Amino acid sequence: MDTQQSVSTDADGQEICDSGALTERGLGQRFRVDWYGEEREAFAVRFGGKVYAYLNSCAHIPIELDYQPGDFFDLSHNFLVCATHGAYYAPESGLCLGGPCPGRRLESVPVAERAGKIYWLSPATGQDGWPD
Ligand code: FES
Repeated sequence: MDTQQSVSTDADGQEICDSGALTERGLGQRFRVDWYGEEREAFAVRFGGKVYAYLNSCAHIPIELDYQPGDFFDLSHNFLVCATHGAYYAPESGLCLGGPCPGRRLESVPVAERAGKIYWLSPATGQDGWPD
């Protein structure tokens, strides 16, 4: 992957934060997305060195997951957890592994990490649509 490519913040990608702001299994970064014409809350976390992002909406009841702003991981820091009823999710897939909604998923937000910054991409563009 070309990490030196300059990236604009046009329709292909909107900056979330600097790469350094997301530490491994640490606090997440909240941000807003234009999601098919609707403004939605979302968040990004780093897990296994990669950045993953999801709409901040539990698959059980559509309310925000974090207990404190940005606090998305459970105590083991192995799972994303909903503060309301304890649904826990695989950070790399958003799949609910336990709690009140097993088998459901968080809605994934496409992201890219380039040149020390993290961007979210239009859901219509996705990872593959990033300009080369
Ligand atoms: S609202 Fe998230 S587990 Fe119930």
